[in-house]
Amino acid sequence: MHFQVLLCVLLASSWAGALEIQVPDDPVIAIFGRDTTLPCSFSPDANFSLADLSLIWQLTSTERLVHSFAGGQDVLANQERSYANRTALFYGQLPRGNVSLLLRRVQISDEGSFTCFVRVRDYSSAAVALQVAALYSKPNLNLEPNKNLKPGDLVTVTCHAFLGYPEATVLWQDGQGNNITENVTTSQVANREGLFDVHSVLRVALEPYSTYSCLVKNSLLQQEIHTSVTITGQHLMFPAVALWVSVGLAICLLVLLGALAYMCQKKIRQTCKEEKENAGIEEQDDGEGPKTALQPLKNVEIKEDIGEEID
Ligand SMILES: *[C@@H]1O[C@H](CO)[C@@H](O)[C@H](O)[C@H]1NC(C)=O
Ligand SMILES: *[C@@H]1O[C@H](CO)[C@@H](O)[C@H](O)[C@H]1NC(C)=O
Ligand SMILES: *[C@@H]1O[C@H](CO)[C@@H](O)[C@H](O)[C@H]1NC(C)=O
Ligand SMILES: *[C@@H]1O[C@H](CO)[C@@H](O)[C@H](O)[C@H]1NC(C)=O
Ligand SMILES: *[C@@H]1O[C@H](CO)[C@@H](O)[C@H](O)[C@H]1NC(C)=O
Repeated sequence: MHFQVLLCVLLASSWAGALEIQVPDDPVIAIFGRDTTLPCSFSPDANFSLADLSLIWQLTSTERLVHSFAGGQDVLANQERSYANRTALFYGQLPRGNVSLLLRRVQISDEGSFTCFVRVRDYSSAAVALQVAALYSKPNLNLEPNKNLKPGDLVTVTCHAFLGYPEATVLWQDGQGNNITENVTTSQVANREGLFDVHSVLRVALEPYSTYSCLVKNSLLQQEIHTSVTITGQHLMFPAVALWVSVGLAICLLVLLGALAYMCQKKIRQTCKEEKENAGIEEQDDGEGPKTALQPLKNVEIKEDIGEEID
């Protein structure tokens, strides 16, 4: 019973002309540099005339004037400078109570809340939130250092994406799609217009033939773009084929040097024998003989070590 009475009162008051304004509940998402519409409307009476309408669009926080309309025309004398030449109404739609605002060339600084104030005898107002967004460019990847690399070398992979808004989320993945966002430093710097440049650095111990992928996300626009770099023979000091060739060469060299050493030793022994026979020097030459023979063998050992490191 009480409810019905209340309903009657409500109906009566709306009959009496209380102005109801419709605005979207969710923020309007506008693309940086493009035009956008801030929706606002009311249901006019049948005898509504444009001359009766007073409309003010203002910034909710500072109440600075964005656009106003009264007596059947725009009134822009006190318009905030930054909105000069950037605003318009849909004049053909005004008689239907559509007082939406066209905002041209949206800037990051436009982000915020706008109040739509309408008066036709009665008055009312409502706020519309504006959120600005900009797509990031496809990221550039840079590998440093990028040649003469050995597996296990510490490398930095730098990912750059430009001119997006708001701040991005950066995710690094390997070739299997695993999250490797661990030793990563990400910075986001706003330019003069407020757009962000994203700079993310991955530090990693190099594994040959692996892939490092930088994924840049703008969640406001559901944007996900990625670029990846794969470590190939071109970056490595020893691509696989060259590695085996060098191992083969090392073995050949070893055999060759072994043979050489053997021959030398034989020759030296022979010489020694001859010398012993000739000069009668005994122990000293016997000591020197193997020394000279060992010299090339030492070199071989060092070569082998390098070979193991590469492996
Ligand atoms: C317009 O109609 C409303 C009722 O719908 C009335 O109250 C008002 O006086 C009328 N205004 C004019 C200017 O005729
Ligand atoms: C707006 O446009 C008018 C006419 O084209 C021009 O004179 C004025 O300088 C412009 N104002 C701004 C702030 O750009
Ligand atoms: C108001 O006009 C704009 C521009 O034509 C349009 O996009 C919007 O849908 C209209 N709103 C209503 C409630 O009719
Ligand atoms: C990836 O790893 C980083 C750091 O370990 C973590 O902060 C992030 O939430 C992870 N992201 C996903 C999508 O798993
Ligand atoms: C991150 O760096 C630490 C220390 O430098 C290292 O122990 C760890 O393995 C690195 N993690 C990855 C995923 O590279």
